[in-house]
Amino acid sequence: MNSVLNTRTDLYGGASVENRTRFLLEVVEAAVRELGPGCVGVRLSPFGKFNGIPADPRTEETLLYVAERLGRLGVAYLHLVNELIPEANMEVAEFKSQHLDHALLAKVRAAFPGAIIWCGGFTDRKSARDALDTGLVDLIAFGSPYIANPDLVERLKHGWPLDEADRSTYYTRCGEVGYTDFPAYSLGRASRRVG
Ligand SMILES: Cc1cc2nc3c(=O)[nH]c(=O)nc-3n(C[C@H](O)[C@H](O)[C@H](O)COP(=O)(O)O)c2cc1C
Repeated sequence: MNSVLNTRTDLYGGASVENRTRFLLEVVEAAVRELGPGCVGVRLSPFGKFNGIPADPRTEETLLYVAERLGRLGVAYLHLVNELIPEANMEVAEFKSQHLDHALLAKVRAAFPGAIIWCGGFTDRKSARDALDTGLVDLIAFGSPYIANPDLVERLKHGWPLDEADRSTYYTRCGEVGYTDFPAYSLGRASRRVG
């Protein structure tokens, strides 16, 4: 859907937003036909730069178009991922203009009638609660906090301290190390890894 990356010249590419979003919308339409409205969710990383994806000046236009169309298709939820890390040579103002901020979330909210899930950078109960209190999203999702806290829900419920995941162990061949070797707090070893 990225207008810079998508250089196709057929019905699935080029400058037109209809073409760039056609594949997603066709797949979702088929899934909804099969599973029923309210049973399909879509996750989008609008400003994602993972693996060198180029910045797209048309992200907002694309996101709002897709949100509106997915709403019409009866999609249950949109799961939106915050892009957290500015590129090395990026100005702060430039990063902020390419970020899933409150103003843009409000526009997505207006375009999409289903539930909105937001994730990326929510590190504790307070940051999640503050985001929910904006009223712009319905649910907060956690990724890396689950790695270091297998009992994350219990910890958030009880206000127990959270452990921090070890980024240096991501995407490595270290087996369970850094992924599944963090103990539950109830085992009384919250700040120490096993082994
Ligand atoms: C080790 C690791 C692997 C991930 N792999 C994927 C992936 O394959 N596809 C994807 O869409 N997101 C992936 N994510 C991103 C998460 O789904 C989620 O969006 C992100 O972790 C949320 O931010 P948070 O970790 O700050 O809560 C990964 C995250 C981590 C920590």
